[in-house]
Amino acid sequence: MFITFEGPEGAGKSTQVRRLADALRLDGHKILVTHEPGGTRIGESIRSLLLTPDRDHPLAPRAEVLLFAAARAQLVNKLIAPALAHGTIVLCDRFSDSTIAYQVGGRGLPFDPVRQIVSFAVAGLQPDLTFLLDLDVGEGLSRKQGSKADRMESEDRSFHQRVRESYAELAAREPDRVVVLDARRSADELATTIHALVVSRLEVDRSTAKTSPSLRQDGRVARAPGTREEETRPS
Ligand SMILES: Nc1ncnc2c1ncn2[C@@H]1O[C@H](COP(=O)(O)OP(=O)(O)O)[C@@H](O)[C@H]1O
Ligand SMILES: [Mg+2]
Repeated sequence: MFITFEGPEGAGKSTQVRRLADALRLDGHKILVTHEPGGTRIGESIRSLLLTPDRDHPLAPRAEVLLFAAARAQLVNKLIAPALAHGTIVLCDRFSDSTIAYQVGGRGLPFDPVRQIVSFAVAGLQPDLTFLLDLDVGEGLSRKQGSKADRMESEDRSFHQRVRESYAELAAREPDRVVVLDARRSADELATTIHALVVSRLEVDRSTAKTSPSLRQDGRVARAPGTREEETRPS
């Protein structure tokens, strides 16, 4: 199962990823925790290009979207797809929805080409479940006061407002995948809700014999996306 956490700055994504990983490990599950952009050596190099503020060399929005996509492609290929293929539960702090929210909503890039870039980068991989922690922009940014703002966090309030709205729209488009949570609730309450929901999804998967999600009806093992270049060949 592939679970992602989304939401604006300071909403509590990293906190909840940690809490869920701890809870699921206690339940006896194998867990991989990762984050975006980064998670791989190449991805972390791209991360520093993306998040380190550099007023002298502003990053063009189209370059930005491609760098995020490149880091994600590396992460899916090297870490996420192999882990899923081994039955590990993968928790990712931000994923494709961030690109729609920040680069389409925030920056104003056109939706269709960005969606295609995102889909190409991840070879079609979609989270099974996404927790969207929704929080007022000012509240989120004030939670982060004290730590140095990165390049995205330094954007103005209207940018972050558009990001929040874009998240709300994508959640409305995919209500089965995206669970919207009020991030003003306490971290403990949120952790309990999130854990309970994941446990119930795991139960459903088990009862519908989806414990081996890579096993297809014809009995052949479907390859996880992004693990081989041959995946685009007709089979
Ligand atoms: N539910 C919550 N209520 C209040 N503060 C929170 C909550 N969750 C996290 N925080 C605090 O807010 C700050 C940002 O949390 P973090 O998990 O880093 O957010 P994100 O990863 O979404 O930017 C941290 O100082 C964290 O302790
Ligand atoms: Mg974080």
